[in-house]
Amino acid sequence: MTAPSAAPRAAPSAAPNTANTAAHIGVFDSGIGGLSVLRAVQQQLPGVRLTYIADSQHTPWGERGTAWVAARCQQLAGWLIDQGASLVLVACNTGTTQAITTLRARWPATPFVGVEPGIKPAVAASRNQRVAVLASAGTLRSARLQLLVHAHAGRAKVLQLPCPGLAEAIEAGGADTGALQQQLDSVAAVLRAADVDTVVLGCTHYPLVADALRQRLGQAVVLVDTADAVARRVASLLGKAPGAAAARPGGLRLFSTADPAALQAAARRWLGSAAAAQALVLHGP
Ligand code: DGL
Repeated sequence: MTAPSAAPRAAPSAAPNTANTAAHIGVFDSGIGGLSVLRAVQQQLPGVRLTYIADSQHTPWGERGTAWVAARCQQLAGWLIDQGASLVLVACNTGTTQAITTLRARWPATPFVGVEPGIKPAVAASRNQRVAVLASAGTLRSARLQLLVHAHAGRAKVLQLPCPGLAEAIEAGGADTGALQQQLDSVAAVLRAADVDTVVLGCTHYPLVADALRQRLGQAVVLVDTADAVARRVASLLGKAPGAAAARPGGLRLFSTADPAALQAAARRWLGSAAAAQALVLHGP
Protein backbone atom coordinates (compact mmCIF):
# COMPACT_ATOMS: atom_id res chain seq x y z
CA MET A 1 0.00 0.00 0.00
CA THR A 2 1.55 3.29 -1.02
CA ALA A 3 1.70 6.25 1.33
CA PRO A 4 0.64 9.68 0.11
CA SER A 5 3.54 11.22 -1.80
CA ALA A 6 3.18 14.66 -0.26
CA ALA A 7 2.08 15.94 3.11
CA PRO A 8 -1.49 17.21 3.12
CA ARG A 9 -1.61 20.94 2.47
CA ALA A 10 -4.64 22.95 3.33
CA ALA A 11 -5.76 26.03 1.51
CA PRO A 12 -5.07 29.16 3.58
CA SER A 13 -8.78 29.50 4.27
CA ALA A 14 -8.73 26.22 6.20
CA ALA A 15 -6.74 27.17 9.28
CA PRO A 16 -6.15 24.23 11.64
CA ASN A 17 -8.51 24.08 14.55
CA THR A 18 -7.04 22.10 17.39
CA ALA A 19 -9.53 23.21 20.04
CA ASN A 20 -10.90 19.70 20.36
CA THR A 21 -13.14 20.36 23.31
CA ALA A 22 -16.48 19.16 21.88
CA ALA A 23 -17.52 16.32 19.61
CA HIS A 24 -16.34 17.21 16.15
CA ILE A 25 -17.07 14.80 13.34
CA GLY A 26 -14.90 14.78 10.25
CA VAL A 27 -16.69 13.36 7.21
CA PHE A 28 -15.39 12.63 3.72
CA ASP A 29 -16.42 11.09 0.43
CA SER A 30 -15.19 11.02 -3.15
CA GLY A 31 -17.68 13.83 -3.83
CA ILE A 32 -21.10 15.05 -2.78
CA GLY A 33 -22.50 11.55 -2.07
CA GLY A 34 -21.46 11.61 1.58
CA LEU A 35 -23.98 14.41 2.13
CA SER A 36 -26.62 11.65 2.18
CA VAL A 37 -24.92 10.23 5.30
CA LEU A 38 -24.15 13.62 6.81
CA ARG A 39 -27.87 14.46 6.48
CA ALA A 40 -28.75 11.44 8.67
CA VAL A 41 -26.12 12.48 11.23
CA GLN A 42 -27.52 16.01 11.34
CA GLN A 43 -31.03 14.62 11.84
CA GLN A 44 -29.95 12.40 14.74
CA LEU A 45 -27.45 14.79 16.30
CA PRO A 46 -28.74 18.26 15.54
CA GLY A 47 -26.16 20.93 16.22
CA VAL A 48 -23.17 18.58 16.27
CA ARG A 49 -20.02 20.07 14.79
CA LEU A 50 -19.23 18.69 11.32
CA THR A 51 -16.46 19.20 8.80
CA TYR A 52 -17.09 17.67 5.36
CA ILE A 53 -14.67 17.09 2.50
CA ALA A 54 -15.92 16.31 -1.02
CA ASP A 55 -12.98 14.98 -3.04
CA SER A 56 -14.81 15.92 -6.21
CA GLN A 57 -11.57 16.49 -8.08
CA HIS A 58 -11.13 12.71 -8.04
CA THR A 59 -14.67 11.30 -8.42
CA PRO A 60 -15.13 8.42 -9.10
CA TRP A 61 -12.95 6.58 -6.63
CA GLY A 62 -14.66 3.37 -7.69
CA GLU A 63 -12.70 3.30 -10.95
CA ARG A 64 -9.33 3.69 -9.16
CA GLY A 65 -7.02 1.10 -7.66
CA THR A 66 -7.17 0.05 -4.01
CA ALA A 67 -3.72 1.49 -3.15
CA TRP A 68 -4.71 4.90 -4.52
CA VAL A 69 -8.03 4.92 -2.64
CA ALA A 70 -6.34 3.85 0.61
CA ALA A 71 -3.66 6.55 0.27
CA ARG A 72 -6.22 9.25 -0.55
CA CYS A 73 -8.40 8.24 2.39
CA GLN A 74 -5.35 8.57 4.65
CA GLN A 75 -4.71 12.09 3.36
CA LEU A 76 -8.30 13.20 3.92
CA ALA A 77 -8.60 11.54 7.34
CA GLY A 78 -5.23 13.00 8.40
CA TRP A 79 -6.35 16.49 7.43
CA LEU A 80 -9.62 16.13 9.34
CA ILE A 81 -7.77 14.89 12.44
CA ASP A 82 -5.39 17.87 12.15
CA GLN A 83 -8.50 20.06 12.11
CA GLY A 84 -9.54 18.58 15.47
CA ALA A 85 -11.97 15.85 14.39
CA SER A 86 -12.65 13.53 17.33
CA LEU A 87 -14.34 10.93 15.10
CA VAL A 88 -13.97 10.35 11.37
CA LEU A 89 -16.89 9.16 9.27
CA VAL A 90 -15.88 7.58 5.97
CA ALA A 91 -19.10 8.44 4.13
CA CYS A 92 -18.17 6.36 1.13
CA ASN A 93 -18.64 2.64 0.51
CA THR A 94 -15.63 2.52 -1.82
CA GLY A 95 -13.40 4.20 0.78
CA THR A 96 -14.73 2.06 3.61
CA THR A 97 -14.36 -1.29 1.87
CA GLN A 98 -10.86 -0.47 0.66
CA ALA A 99 -9.32 1.69 3.35
CA ILE A 100 -10.96 1.64 6.77
CA THR A 101 -8.72 -1.11 8.14
CA THR A 102 -5.67 0.95 7.17
CA LEU A 103 -7.14 4.08 8.74
CA ARG A 104 -7.90 2.34 12.04
CA ALA A 105 -4.37 0.89 12.15
CA ARG A 106 -2.79 4.28 11.48
CA TRP A 107 -4.87 6.27 14.02
CA PRO A 108 -5.75 3.74 16.75
CA ALA A 109 -6.93 6.46 19.15
CA THR A 110 -9.47 7.89 16.69
CA PRO A 111 -12.84 6.18 16.17
CA PHE A 112 -13.63 5.60 12.49
CA VAL A 113 -17.13 4.82 11.28
CA GLY A 114 -17.61 3.50 7.77
CA VAL A 115 -20.46 2.85 5.37
CA GLU A 116 -21.04 -0.59 3.87
CA PRO A 117 -23.74 -1.89 1.55
CA GLY A 118 -26.67 -3.17 3.62
CA ILE A 119 -26.73 -6.75 2.36
CA LYS A 120 -28.04 -8.17 5.65
CA PRO A 121 -31.09 -5.86 5.98
CA ALA A 122 -31.81 -6.27 2.27
CA VAL A 123 -31.92 -10.06 2.45
CA ALA A 124 -34.12 -9.79 5.55
CA ALA A 125 -36.50 -7.41 3.73
CA SER A 126 -36.73 -9.39 0.48
CA ARG A 127 -39.89 -11.41 -0.07
CA ASN A 128 -38.80 -13.14 -3.26
CA GLN A 129 -35.14 -13.63 -2.22
CA ARG A 130 -33.94 -11.58 -5.18
CA VAL A 131 -31.77 -8.70 -4.14
CA ALA A 132 -29.55 -6.29 -6.09
CA VAL A 133 -26.56 -4.32 -4.85
CA LEU A 134 -25.80 -1.12 -6.76
CA ALA A 135 -22.24 -0.03 -6.02
CA SER A 136 -19.01 1.13 -7.61
CA ALA A 137 -16.72 -1.37 -9.30
CA GLY A 138 -14.21 -0.83 -6.48
CA THR A 139 -16.76 -1.71 -3.80
CA LEU A 140 -17.99 -4.78 -5.65
CA ARG A 141 -14.53 -6.23 -6.18
CA SER A 142 -13.51 -5.66 -2.53
CA ALA A 143 -12.97 -8.62 -0.25
CA ARG A 144 -15.21 -6.94 2.33
CA LEU A 145 -18.23 -6.85 0.00
CA GLN A 146 -17.72 -10.46 -1.03
CA LEU A 147 -17.53 -11.42 2.66
CA LEU A 148 -20.81 -9.59 3.35
CA VAL A 149 -22.53 -11.42 0.49
CA HIS A 150 -21.12 -14.75 1.61
CA ALA A 151 -22.16 -14.15 5.23
CA HIS A 152 -25.67 -12.84 4.64
CA ALA A 153 -27.04 -13.95 1.27
CA GLY A 154 -28.31 -17.30 2.49
CA ARG A 155 -30.72 -18.60 -0.15
CA ALA A 156 -31.14 -15.17 -1.74
CA LYS A 157 -29.82 -14.43 -5.19
CA VAL A 158 -27.69 -11.27 -4.94
CA LEU A 159 -27.17 -9.41 -8.22
CA GLN A 160 -24.04 -7.25 -7.99
CA LEU A 161 -24.46 -4.36 -10.38
CA PRO A 162 -21.67 -1.84 -10.98
CA CYS A 163 -23.07 1.44 -12.25
CA PRO A 164 -20.24 3.11 -14.19
CA GLY A 165 -20.92 6.80 -14.70
CA LEU A 166 -23.82 7.04 -12.24
CA ALA A 167 -21.91 8.71 -9.39
CA GLU A 168 -20.38 11.22 -11.85
CA ALA A 169 -23.79 11.97 -13.37
CA ILE A 170 -25.20 12.65 -9.88
CA GLU A 171 -22.16 14.78 -9.11
CA ALA A 172 -22.70 16.72 -12.32
CA GLY A 173 -26.30 17.66 -11.99
CA GLY A 174 -28.52 16.26 -9.32
CA ALA A 175 -31.57 14.50 -10.70
CA ASP A 176 -32.00 16.90 -13.55
CA THR A 177 -29.68 16.07 -16.42
CA GLY A 178 -30.59 13.95 -19.42
CA ALA A 179 -27.45 11.86 -18.91
CA LEU A 180 -28.55 10.98 -15.40
CA GLN A 181 -32.09 10.15 -16.51
CA GLN A 182 -30.67 7.76 -19.12
CA GLN A 183 -28.38 6.12 -16.57
CA LEU A 184 -31.29 5.59 -14.19
CA ASP A 185 -33.47 4.21 -17.00
CA SER A 186 -30.89 1.60 -17.90
CA VAL A 187 -30.19 0.60 -14.27
CA ALA A 188 -33.95 0.27 -13.66
CA ALA A 189 -34.34 -1.88 -16.79
CA VAL A 190 -31.69 -4.33 -15.53
CA LEU A 191 -33.31 -4.44 -12.07
CA ARG A 192 -36.77 -5.09 -13.52
CA ALA A 193 -35.42 -7.84 -15.78
CA ALA A 194 -33.80 -9.49 -12.75
CA ASP A 195 -37.13 -9.31 -10.87
CA VAL A 196 -35.50 -8.03 -7.69
CA ASP A 197 -37.78 -6.74 -4.94
CA THR A 198 -35.02 -5.16 -2.81
CA VAL A 199 -32.20 -2.89 -3.94
CA VAL A 200 -29.17 -1.95 -1.83
CA LEU A 201 -27.96 1.59 -2.48
CA GLY A 202 -24.30 0.64 -2.05
CA CYS A 203 -22.84 4.01 -2.96
CA THR A 204 -23.57 7.12 -0.94
CA HIS A 205 -24.32 9.10 -4.09
CA TYR A 206 -27.31 6.90 -4.93
CA PRO A 207 -29.67 7.89 -2.05
CA LEU A 208 -29.60 11.38 -3.58
CA VAL A 209 -31.56 9.94 -6.53
CA ALA A 210 -33.64 7.45 -4.53
CA ASP A 211 -36.90 9.18 -5.51
CA ALA A 212 -36.06 9.03 -9.20
CA LEU A 213 -35.19 5.34 -8.87
CA ARG A 214 -38.37 4.62 -6.90
CA GLN A 215 -40.45 6.27 -9.62
CA ARG A 216 -38.97 3.85 -12.14
CA LEU A 217 -39.16 0.71 -10.02
CA GLY A 218 -42.46 1.27 -8.27
CA GLN A 219 -43.27 1.55 -4.58
CA ALA A 220 -43.20 -2.23 -4.01
CA VAL A 221 -39.43 -2.36 -4.47
CA VAL A 222 -37.57 -1.68 -1.21
CA LEU A 223 -34.51 0.57 -1.40
CA VAL A 224 -31.97 -0.06 1.38
CA ASP A 225 -29.87 2.87 2.56
CA THR A 226 -27.75 2.39 5.69
CA ALA A 227 -27.32 6.11 6.49
CA ASP A 228 -29.62 6.07 9.53
CA ALA A 229 -27.89 3.03 11.02
CA VAL A 230 -24.52 4.67 10.42
CA ALA A 231 -25.70 7.85 12.15
CA ARG A 232 -26.90 5.79 15.14
CA ARG A 233 -23.44 4.21 15.34
CA VAL A 234 -21.84 7.66 15.31
CA ALA A 235 -24.18 8.81 18.10
CA SER A 236 -23.38 5.78 20.22
CA LEU A 237 -19.62 6.17 19.80
CA LEU A 238 -19.94 9.80 20.87
CA GLY A 239 -21.98 8.69 23.88
CA LYS A 240 -25.05 10.60 22.75
CA ALA A 241 -28.63 9.44 22.44
CA PRO A 242 -29.93 9.79 18.87
CA GLY A 243 -31.98 12.98 18.72
CA ALA A 244 -29.87 14.65 21.41
CA ALA A 245 -29.01 18.21 20.55
CA ALA A 246 -25.44 19.35 21.14
CA ALA A 247 -24.86 21.48 24.23
CA ARG A 248 -23.56 24.23 21.96
CA PRO A 249 -24.39 24.92 18.34
CA GLY A 250 -21.87 23.05 16.22
CA GLY A 251 -22.06 24.20 12.68
CA LEU A 252 -21.05 22.73 9.37
CA ARG A 253 -17.86 23.45 7.44
CA LEU A 254 -17.71 22.34 3.83
CA PHE A 255 -14.57 21.78 1.74
CA SER A 256 -14.24 20.68 -1.86
CA THR A 257 -11.11 19.66 -3.75
CA ALA A 258 -12.86 20.82 -6.95
CA ASP A 259 -15.47 23.55 -7.26
CA PRO A 260 -16.69 24.78 -3.86
CA ALA A 261 -19.73 26.41 -5.50
CA ALA A 262 -20.93 22.98 -6.68
CA LEU A 263 -20.61 21.53 -3.17
CA GLN A 264 -22.37 24.56 -1.70
CA ALA A 265 -25.24 24.15 -4.16
CA ALA A 266 -25.47 20.42 -3.35
CA ALA A 267 -25.52 21.14 0.40
CA ARG A 268 -28.27 23.69 -0.12
CA ARG A 269 -30.26 21.22 -2.15
CA TRP A 270 -29.79 18.05 -0.09
CA LEU A 271 -29.36 19.48 3.42
CA GLY A 272 -31.14 22.81 3.16
CA SER A 273 -27.86 24.24 4.44
CA ALA A 274 -26.73 27.79 3.88
CA ALA A 275 -23.12 26.97 4.81
CA ALA A 276 -20.46 28.35 2.48
CA ALA A 277 -18.00 25.90 0.93
CA GLN A 278 -14.26 26.47 0.66
CA ALA A 279 -11.59 25.11 -1.65
CA LEU A 280 -9.19 22.55 -0.22
CA VAL A 281 -5.86 21.69 -1.83
CA LEU A 282 -4.33 18.33 -0.90
CA HIS A 283 -1.68 17.12 -3.35
CA GLY A 284 -1.23 13.52 -4.38
CA PRO A 285 -1.27 10.52 -3.78
N1 DGL B 1 -19.92 7.78 -2.75
C1 DGL B 1 -18.96 6.81 -3.21
C2 DGL B 1 -19.31 5.42 -2.61
O1 DGL B 1 -20.10 5.34 -1.68
C3 DGL B 1 -18.92 6.97 -4.69
C4 DGL B 1 -18.10 6.05 -5.45
C5 DGL B 1 -17.15 6.64 -6.43
O2 DGL B 1 -16.63 7.75 -6.26
O3 DGL B 1 -16.90 5.88 -7.36
O4 DGL B 1 -18.78 4.41 -2.99
